[in-house]
Formats: sequence, C-alpha cells, structure tokens
Amino acid sequence: MKKIALGLSTVALALAAANSQAGEVEVLHWWTSGSEATAINVLKKEMEDAGNTWKDFAVAGGGGESAMTVLKSRAIAGNPPAAAQIKGPTIQEWGDLGFLANIDDVAKAGHWDQILPPVVSKVMKYDGHYVAAPVNVHRVNWLWANPDVFRKAGASIPTTWDQFFVAADKIKKAGFTPLAHGGQAWQDATLFEAIALSEGTDFYKAAFIDLDDDAIKGPKMIDALTTFKKMRQYVDPGFSGRDWNVATSMVINGKAAMQVMGDWAKGEFTSAGKKPGIDYICVPAPGTSGQYTFNIDSMAMFQVDSEDTQKAQKDLARLILEPTFQEAFNLAKGSIPVRLGMPRDKFDTCADSSMDAFNAASASGDLLPSMAHGMSVNSMVQGAMFDVITNFFNTEDMTAEQAADKLSRAVKASL
Ligand code: GAL
Repeated sequence: MKKIALGLSTVALALAAANSQAGEVEVLHWWTSGSEATAINVLKKEMEDAGNTWKDFAVAGGGGESAMTVLKSRAIAGNPPAAAQIKGPTIQEWGDLGFLANIDDVAKAGHWDQILPPVVSKVMKYDGHYVAAPVNVHRVNWLWANPDVFRKAGASIPTTWDQFFVAADKIKKAGFTPLAHGGQAWQDATLFEAIALSEGTDFYKAAFIDLDDDAIKGPKMIDALTTFKKMRQYVDPGFSGRDWNVATSMVINGKAAMQVMGDWAKGEFTSAGKKPGIDYICVPAPGTSGQYTFNIDSMAMFQVDSEDTQKAQKDLARLILEPTFQEAFNLAKGSIPVRLGMPRDKFDTCADSSMDAFNAASASGDLLPSMAHGMSVNSMVQGAMFDVITNFFNTEDMTAEQAADKLSRAVKASL
C-alpha cells in the first residue's frame, strides 16, 4: 500500500480552514539570519503597503526542518497558516492532502506560464493548478573563499577536490580553519551533495533523482563518501551544531578559508558590506563548474475561509512575481530572480555567473534539483538520506562501503 506522504493521514481528517483575520496573512518561513530577514522584510513591507496585515511566523533553523515540523503540527490542529514556505515535491505532498489553494487567476493575470522557466512552473502546480509562488533560484553547488587567507597560506583556489585537499593542508599549516562547516544534517547533506555531483550528472541523476539502487551503493557513491569523510580533518573542533550563517561569518572574518554552501551565503557577505572578487571569491564547488544544483524557494497558499485573507493571499502571490520584488528580494537573499527577462544591472558578478550557469546547464542537461534542499525527492527519502550521511560523517569507524550499504537500505525502507 502506498505510504501516505508526510505521515499525515490524520491531518486530512483534521483539515479545517485557517482562521485568520480580515486582510491578514500569516506567513510561515525560516528566514531568520541577517540577510534572510532583510530579504523577507521586502515582502512584508510590500504587503503592508498594499493594505494587508503581515503576521510573521518565523521558525529558526536553516534548511527548514524545524519549520516543517511546526507546520505539520499546526495543520494537524486544523489551523495552518495562510502561506508557508514549502518547496519542491513537498508541495505535491500537501496538495495530495487537500490543503492547498488554487491561485490560477493570479498566475493567469501575471502570465506565469510565460515568465517562469518550465522547470519551475511545473513544481508550483498541483494537479495542473498553481498553488505556490516561486521567489527565487538558489544555486547550491558553490565554494565561498576568503582570498586573504589563501594568500597568507600560499594556497590556490581549488577547481577539483584533489586540489581542495592540497590547499586545505597549506591553510591548516598556516593556522586557519580550511573548511567552515556547521554540523547539522542539512549542512552535511549540502556538502556531500556537492561532492557527489562532481562524480557526474548521470550518477547524480541515478542516485538522487531516480533512486537507482546500483548507483546508490555503487563505486561512485563510495568514492564520494570517501572524499566527504576526509573533510572531517579540515573542519574546526567546534563545528557540531553550528548554524550555517555562523560558518559563513568565519569566512567573512578570515578565521576560515572556505565554505561549501548555497548562495544564501552570499546574502551574508553582502549584508557584511563585502564585495565579490575583492573581499571574497565565489566559484563553483570543485569539479562541478558546468553543473547547477538548484533550490527554488516558494510560498504555497493554504485554503482559508476568510475572503479578506483570500484576497491578501492573492496580493502576496502577485507581488512575489513582480519585477520590483524579484529584484529587491534576490539582491538581499543572494539568489537570482526566478522571473525570466529581468534586468541584470544591479546584480553582482556571482549572481551574473549564476544566471549564465543556469542557462548553460539548462541547455546541456546539467540543471539538477538539489536533494539536500528538498527539490529532488520527497521528505521521507530526503530524511532517510540525511540520517545516513550525518551518521557516517560523525562515526569514525564506519567505512564508505558500509555507509553506501546503509544508504541503499534506508532509501528502500522510505519508499
Ligand atoms: C534553504 C532555503 C534557503 C536558505 C537556506 C538556509 O533550504 O531554501 O533559502 O535560506 O535554507 O536557511
């Protein structure tokens, strides 16, 4: 029997409309770092300017795991927020449970089918109808580096993982932390995914999209796991549990040389007043220059009774795709606009290269949904992968072969 997504069988029974006040939208999100808060405040202000009341429902925790847990309990209680940051296949899971509201009229008026890349619009629809509005495109496979630390260590910016370890040894010898990392499951998965991506697009697709068992426990996976485990030698002793933005600040402050993280990290560099190419370097994660793992944030709308709230939801959806919001939000967030044909002049060189890479990867077939950010698999498979990846990283005597085997079994059990 098909397992019910999200383990929410009881939720469907408890389904009740959200009871928000007139013209008020309660918005669930996990954007609590400095740059994330600046970015979401753009939307809050635009909503207020349009005469609506914004009820902020922020649940701290990068990657959104805690936010999703809170959302489930609110839904089970029959009181979901009017809008929530839900991404990728999870939108389908909530759609299956009958929670989401149809916003086709807004999409039609705003020509969303024309202004969005098909790879995006497909995900925003449930059963052929728009239920969510996309805000951005994040590239996940980035390496962020502090050039000053590299200079002091006499190291060069790596373009392969072999070069990464050569540079990391020099940096360590010079007294810096080579890799700024936060030991949280989603950050471990973000780092691991970048390494696995360098094993090739075919492998990535087989392992993280098609869930092909031969790929999941095969030699390329074992190779990627081996490289991943080696990273343990290059993080500082305090890495466990660290928030991603604290890790980014280590690169900003010159305590650490590098971070492998999606371009929300750039938001932190920007809000610290740092300039790309001068104060920091953005390059594709080693071995992945032609590839692009994408992470698209979106706001899904929940069914509500109040007509005023319904109107406010439509304002929210409409404003999200307007050029003004797309520009201001993405400048602060570190991502690029999801709306096609936006002027590039205000965007920096990292965003420029992300835009070029998105187009090139889309043409070459190397545009890939991020597993670590809930784009490629549902939340059950993702959770199973996270558990094995993190466990392996933190268990000294587990071999890569054992981890690959565990991964294969965990994925099968979650299907
Ligand atoms: C991702 C999200 C990004 C970013 C990051 C860290 O899942 O898509 O927008 O904020 O988490 O919180």
